[in-house]
Amino acid sequence: MPKNRRPLIAGNWKMNGFKADGQALANALAERMQSETDPAFDMLVCPPFTLIAGIGETIDGCGIALGAQDCHAAAKGAHTADISAAMLSDLGCQYVIVGHSERRTDHGETDLEVKAKAEAAQACGLTAIICIGETEQQRDDGKTFDVVKTQLSGSIPDAAVASNTVIAYEPVWAIGTGRTPSNDEVQEVHALIRDGLSQALGEDQAAAVRILYGGSMKPENARELIALPDVDGGLIGGASLKAEDFWAIAECCEKRWSSGA
Ligand code: 13P
Repeated sequence: MPKNRRPLIAGNWKMNGFKADGQALANALAERMQSETDPAFDMLVCPPFTLIAGIGETIDGCGIALGAQDCHAAAKGAHTADISAAMLSDLGCQYVIVGHSERRTDHGETDLEVKAKAEAAQACGLTAIICIGETEQQRDDGKTFDVVKTQLSGSIPDAAVASNTVIAYEPVWAIGTGRTPSNDEVQEVHALIRDGLSQALGEDQAAAVRILYGGSMKPENARELIALPDVDGGLIGGASLKAEDFWAIAECCEKRWSSGA
């Protein structure tokens, strides 16, 4: 059965890049994107907050979307150093990553907080990329399914729909390690996530939500991962910092959706 979802290739630059190298990376991607007449993917870059405005200008009009790596759940107010979803929207962002495992670990973010952030993002017209995934210990203990199901149901807003929600499955132990689950294991978890989405949002919305895989995705393994039935692209860290690698991953996407997606 063809997948009716257009792959999303999303770069999470994390805490990397100064003005010059961020611009060089964005320029290289913009150039490539502009020479595409009918790309088989949507592309997104999520620079650190400091670079969003500048990168937004560089990629403006080239077909690459702009996103951020986090937002605050409140609309505005006394939250020193935090950034609201409305501020991101004001800069031209269309997406924001919420609940990345590095935020959950470094800043103790809970499912409830991630859900509030996703709600704030969606209320501002942004698409929330909600990250979930098990640690190595949880996988070794056979708890992957339970952890993923609990994180999903706890982090997804009640009113989420496919047009404002992306799920990223990122096994924590696969991030930046060069290790990945087997293709079968990835598909198994993605199918479980789609099932959970069905229960939360109904079957039609669940069938349309894009579920990205993240964790050591690179040009060498992207084609097989992206071809899996319930994998709809990637959330890419390290390999998104090199234009050539990020682009090579995007080129692994094949047209396999029916028209109108
Ligand atoms: P790596 O691609 O560097 O493993 O990072 C994945 C990730 O955390 C993307 O959000």
